[in-house]
Amino acid sequence: MHIGILTSGGDTPGLNAAIRGIGKAAINTHEMSVIGFRDGFKGLMQNRSIRLDRQALSGILTIGGTILGTSREKPHKMEVGGQKMDMTDAILENIEAHHLDALICLGGGGTQKNALRLYKAGAPIITLPKTIDKDVWGTDTTFGFDTALGIATDAIDRLHSTAHSHHRIVVVELMGHNAGWLALGAGLAGGADVILIPEIPYNIDAIAETVLQRRAGGSTFSIIAVSEGALSAQEHASMTAIQERLDATKGDDKRADERAEAKADMAALEEQRKDTTARLSRRLEEMTGLEARVTILGHVQRGGTPSAQDRLLATRLGTASADFTARGVTGVMVAMVNGEAVPVPLEEVAGKRAVVPADHPWLLTARNLGIGLGD
Ligand code: F6P
Repeated sequence: MHIGILTSGGDTPGLNAAIRGIGKAAINTHEMSVIGFRDGFKGLMQNRSIRLDRQALSGILTIGGTILGTSREKPHKMEVGGQKMDMTDAILENIEAHHLDALICLGGGGTQKNALRLYKAGAPIITLPKTIDKDVWGTDTTFGFDTALGIATDAIDRLHSTAHSHHRIVVVELMGHNAGWLALGAGLAGGADVILIPEIPYNIDAIAETVLQRRAGGSTFSIIAVSEGALSAQEHASMTAIQERLDATKGDDKRADERAEAKADMAALEEQRKDTTARLSRRLEEMTGLEARVTILGHVQRGGTPSAQDRLLATRLGTASADFTARGVTGVMVAMVNGEAVPVPLEEVAGKRAVVPADHPWLLTARNLGIGLGD
């Protein structure tokens, strides 16, 4: 049998561990041949591949990023010669030419959607859930999250001593896209005083109140962990209203103008939000009279060697996906559910996002601790 592997979307620690897991199980246990495509779906379309033999798979377990390279290109809307084109047929031809029994796509939420489209077009797809955001539906966790959580927690630890020494507010922005897992997890583990996540629209008065109460209690510094997707109550209301307009006009040719207007409004709102963390910090300075500083952790959260947890998770999911291939299973994401690697139909996964539920134990713990959540 023949397996193809590609990595798509943002890179994540643990991708190489997963590639190694798939490859070693495929070669050693199932006597399959394995190739990897460069730079995600783009490289598959361009038929840029490398053989992943024992030698190629050796020594990659601990390396960050992806040895295959990645991109955010979508099969049905691919940048070709300055235009967006549907390259699904070219991709299917290459899958056929390599006699692939499975194309294993390692990616986050966007990849699951693209993979389902390809599966429906006839490709033998299996996916694995990777992202530092932990927002893929249908799995308890995703590889990359644990490493990012460790890096972000370490950063918050380090910000504590400088915030404390200068009696400052430190606002630290964390990744996570539109889910608050990373900010909430690192905020809790790092002892942040306020945690702002996209799932809970915030009110700046409530944040200032938390900081002022701390000051009244003798703590002259505060650490505010803010997820990049966190929204003020006002921004949340505007975004919800625009999203409703987008949903109402989707696929309706007669309302194309209305839809274009809604899209422009959404783009304008996103543009406005670009330096939202810096603005939040400035407002808090004005409201509390304390000096504030901003730290944006950015891509450092995705870089470097994967944690032991991520290596384990990626290796387990990778080897399981080779086993499922041997059993002829396709059209699934191999998920971690209650400690087991299980196949979940892509149809159930694609297009959904796993966000922090209001009754999640991490949130209840934060409230119990008296951490401000901005509401
Ligand atoms: O999905 C992973 C992620 O790191 C998000 O947390 C973040 O919003 C995004 O990717 C950043 O993307 P890029 O690397 O394209 O700037």
